[in-house]
Amino acid sequence: MLNRGMETYDTIILGAGAAGLFCAKFATASGGRVLVIDHAKRPAEKVRISGGGRCNFTNLYAAPDNFLSRNPHFAKSALARYTQWDFIDLLAEHQITWHEKTLGQLFCDGKSQAIVNMLLAEAGAAEIRLSTTVDKIARDGGGFRLTLSGQEVFARNLVVACGGKSIPKMGATGLGYDIAAQFGLPIEDTRPALVPLTFAPHELEWIAPLAGTALPVRISANGTTFEEALLFTHRGLSGPSILQISSYWKEGDTIVVDLAPDRDIFEDLRNARAENGRRQIGTALATLLPAKLATVIASRLELSGNLADQSDKSLKSLADALHAFALKPTGSEGYRTAEVTLGGVSTDALDARTMEAKTVPGLFFIGEVVDVTGWLGGYNFQWAWASAAACGRAI
Ligand code: FDA
Repeated sequence: MLNRGMETYDTIILGAGAAGLFCAKFATASGGRVLVIDHAKRPAEKVRISGGGRCNFTNLYAAPDNFLSRNPHFAKSALARYTQWDFIDLLAEHQITWHEKTLGQLFCDGKSQAIVNMLLAEAGAAEIRLSTTVDKIARDGGGFRLTLSGQEVFARNLVVACGGKSIPKMGATGLGYDIAAQFGLPIEDTRPALVPLTFAPHELEWIAPLAGTALPVRISANGTTFEEALLFTHRGLSGPSILQISSYWKEGDTIVVDLAPDRDIFEDLRNARAENGRRQIGTALATLLPAKLATVIASRLELSGNLADQSDKSLKSLADALHAFALKPTGSEGYRTAEVTLGGVSTDALDARTMEAKTVPGLFFIGEVVDVTGWLGGYNFQWAWASAAACGRAI
């Protein structure tokens, strides 16, 4: 007898977050006895606070290309078998209305708590224990023996859905990686992603006074480009464009920012010179960029005099500088503010159809703990739903 006197479950899911709760919906569908545990006092806290309280729950255009992983093919199967349309249909069943904000990003019309309530309702057949710690996990015959807040329990299947390292204040821990390591599974190096970038003091000197200034940019690093807003802050650079590029940026890399992606600055300045050559170059720049930024750039590039003083060559080199403004971040704000963790449990070790560890039957990893990281814009929740469905249906 494997489970002498112990509470026995078909499946134990570690983490009552987005992926864990969603997995419980599928794992209970076949009538299995399912326990979901979380050390937090409340379930799915990240869902509740996400999207500024309105949860950007998926993206109309979610496709494998929107995800980073050492194996870019891994996510294809799960994403194809539980799509954004499936999740949208589920919201309709729960009368949750939504709207597209921008770039296919779907947000609740009301509060994101509606999604948390929906997840709890869908996982209703599972037992959910909050404020519960994982003290010990051991292989026991064909299953797993766990000590949860001092109590021993047994399960045939163990699903690790305890997320990544981002925002420890909200309960993030490295438990998922520790469990992978315990069972000998490889882990791709982890680092904060979708995170503001920081700069050396001499750069911060001109960046910080611009705090609050935002503008649309085209931003590139390591061959990847995004067109979204950039925001200057007291600590460095943020805004969607920076969060997106932070997933591709590595220490030592330069990022290149086109500060006016929709304009031809050279042509605009030449036209301005033809119209009124007595205009100050700084004043002309302020018609193309936010005025505060134009002033700072004029002083950094030591621009002076009026437009008539500028040769085509100098206008061209100014335009080139603004279309390819190079910046060298020194780091990021780290897990304290990162929305996600890049890297994680290696996809080499998992079956792409079921999320089961190839070498440990009955052990599954889903959601952010896996080395699949989405862009900003609802993609990370879509991965949580899709990987949870793949696993829950297989159990
Ligand atoms: P998730 O973090 O949701 O759940 C893990 C659970 O495991 C938590 O409940 C945690 O308490 C528990 N846990 C951790 N360690 C444990 C331990 N040792 N013992 C017991 N339990 C433990 N994505 C998106 O697509 N759209 C959006 O709008 C946003 N917005 C957003 C805002 C902010 C501020 C953040 C930080 C993140 C986002 N995200 C997002 C990302 C999204 O929240 C994230 O990708 C998913 O929540 C990941 O789902 P998981 O279920 O894998 O982890």
